[in-house]
Amino acid sequence: MPDNLKKTKPLAVYFHWPYCKSKCPYCDFFKRVEKNVNQQEIIESYLADLSYYHKLTADRAVRSVFFGGGTPSLIEPQYIERLLRKISDLWKLEKNVEITLEANPNTHSKTLFNNLKNAGINRLSLGVQALNEQDLRFLGRTHNLKAALESIEDVLHTFDNNSIDLIYARPNQPLESWLSELETAASFGLKHLSLYQLTIEDGTVFFKKDIKALDEEKAAQMYVETVDFLRKNGYPRYEVSNFAPKPFESKHNKAYWLGDEYIGIGESAHGRLNVGGKFMAYVHPKKGEILSNQMRAQELLLMGLRLEEGIDKTRFENQVGINFDSFINQKNLKELVACGFLSNTAQNLKATDKGFLLLDAITQKLCF
Ligand SMILES: C[S@@+](CC[C@H](N)C(=O)[O-])C[C@H]1O[C@@H](n2cnc3c(N)ncnc32)[C@H](O)[C@@H]1O
Ligand code: SF4
Repeated sequence: MPDNLKKTKPLAVYFHWPYCKSKCPYCDFFKRVEKNVNQQEIIESYLADLSYYHKLTADRAVRSVFFGGGTPSLIEPQYIERLLRKISDLWKLEKNVEITLEANPNTHSKTLFNNLKNAGINRLSLGVQALNEQDLRFLGRTHNLKAALESIEDVLHTFDNNSIDLIYARPNQPLESWLSELETAASFGLKHLSLYQLTIEDGTVFFKKDIKALDEEKAAQMYVETVDFLRKNGYPRYEVSNFAPKPFESKHNKAYWLGDEYIGIGESAHGRLNVGGKFMAYVHPKKGEILSNQMRAQELLLMGLRLEEGIDKTRFENQVGINFDSFINQKNLKELVACGFLSNTAQNLKATDKGFLLLDAITQKLCF
């Protein structure tokens, strides 16, 4: 790393593109389905937002950029290029800056991937969701298995750094059939896998149809088997739902889990920035409010325990000015350690394999 960057704090930049070709029945992310989107106008507003946030963060170095959605693979590559050029005009970039775009196979073409690469994208995350025909249909995806496999092949061919998303614990999904899908996923030679248990979110089509996810016990068993299989096959878990060897852990998502600073641009995006010694939470459009040390400490606990490496107590204290051991409920901590849910040392607190199954409840107990 060049000397002038050594002491510079890292910054992550997130762009949210809310538009999709169609709505998937399980998805409750903020999104719109519109035919005539004025991309130029939206990109102009994103460029203006970049200038605004630069004034607050001029001394940082950009470590990662992420285009998420919605379906950001619908953005014309020329606009991706403009946004990335603006970022590199405004900030220093870290040497191996990670620039990810989330693509939906229903937008895939070889040319698009090449153009995205030429525009500056160096990591592609593909929303495959299932590797069998029937479940792709059930999930309301508009791509079939052939299209999924062709997209994966082109991702591998075009981007050295790559990932796919899959959703599991689908209704009545047999463990064996998921493990066989997982084996296929691990065989492609991708650098990273994101695997999410299906959640039936309030207000979605699945919710309205009263579709039930796999029962909790079976889903937990699936998770345990997933982690075990991937550990043995070159994809260690580094976060609850994310699996990759160390060099390919997502720098961008780690910024959230480690409590680093990030800018969020686009409807429904949010940000976290230290502005003049005050830690601020931002929501669109550029609305900031001070986050108290107590709130921030809770957030760091919630996010940090999602990581396999857990929470570094010195880092925590440096971030919020509160001693970690005095922040958490020591009585509950002792019980959780005794029951084998947490591993605690003078320097670090982390969840055990057993603890990963009950993270939400554990975090609650530590906060009160
Ligand atoms: C913001 S979505 C965008 C992905 C992209 N638009 C696509 O559909 O390919 C990111 C990921 O969240 C996951 N996801 C969305 N809704 C989910 C749900 N209800 N349960 C589990 N995972 C979900 C999917 O794996 C999806 O790829
Ligand atoms: S899963 Fe992706 S494509 Fe489907 S509605 Fe959600 S954001 Fe859009």
